[in-house]
Amino acid sequence: MQATARAQPNIALIKYWGKRDRTLNLPAVGSISITLAELFTEMNVQFDSGLNDDVLTVNGEIDRQMLPRISRCLSAVAGEGRDTALVDSHCNFPVAAGLASSASAFAALVVAASAAAGQQRSTAELASLAGQASGSAARSLYGGFAELENDGDSVAVETLLDAGDWPLSIVIAVTSSGPKPLSSGEAMEISRKTSPFYGRWIDDQMHDLDVARLAIRERDFDKLAAIAEHNCLKMHSVMWASRPPIVYWNAATLDCLQTVRELRGQGVGVFFTVDAGPQVKAICMAHDVSRVCDALQSTNGVRRVIVSGLGVGAQLTDCA
Ligand code: PMV
Repeated sequence: MQATARAQPNIALIKYWGKRDRTLNLPAVGSISITLAELFTEMNVQFDSGLNDDVLTVNGEIDRQMLPRISRCLSAVAGEGRDTALVDSHCNFPVAAGLASSASAFAALVVAASAAAGQQRSTAELASLAGQASGSAARSLYGGFAELENDGDSVAVETLLDAGDWPLSIVIAVTSSGPKPLSSGEAMEISRKTSPFYGRWIDDQMHDLDVARLAIRERDFDKLAAIAEHNCLKMHSVMWASRPPIVYWNAATLDCLQTVRELRGQGVGVFFTVDAGPQVKAICMAHDVSRVCDALQSTNGVRRVIVSGLGVGAQLTDCA
């Protein structure tokens, strides 16, 4: 059996940073994200007992580095006694550069692997399996605005608003296309163990989630902008104060934040967020996209901008 699934990355507006249980990969805090439409990973999974080991190709090249995580995820979905698998992944944006490629990869993988194994799993089950591989991947099973709740022994994700209910746009300013120096998993552990701000980060998260959830339900852009920027900068402050310090930004990242502030000063509805990488994501109303694009594109150090609307979440595209 073989199956193909497509999933989009998601961008957290209220961030997940820190693990409560490393074995089960449970996040220490809840999070709220938007799933993108135009960026995607497509995964084909073929269980084939003719192979001695699993094989992974990413954009046509054999990838041995990512393979152990992929194999673990396949076993979690299809069971330890499963056949070996051929996994072919295609991604239409830079991988491992702070654009949440692992979220779209593992969301697509669990959907394709489950179908290829002949299973009928619920979206909630698939989200939980994706979350074991990459915390943020659980959110990519869902479209629009999704909240990952952090209770009990597994994750639960709820859709707060569908993509069409509040069709915001995202402009991503790519300031570097290289892989990130430190994985988010390793960085989270350093923060947990060493950052003097880590405890406060955990304590404040419930408040930030409450404010953002309400802002999304009321479609209150300014309220969402304020809490999302605050939450992002707080997460990076936790990282900066870690030992050794974790700094994913470059000079262009800071220049982009300044551009977003200037746009806002000119009356454009836009706010920024930054994940574990140097790219800046600007969230705006659809009618302001070209203004935001032009301003970010002409900011020092920006290599290119990518525009996206909100997507529908992971989908099975082929199963035979
Ligand atoms: O799911 P991971 O292990 O790639 O961690 C994601 C961490 C952030 O992107 C920085 C925040 C988030 O909630 O997506």
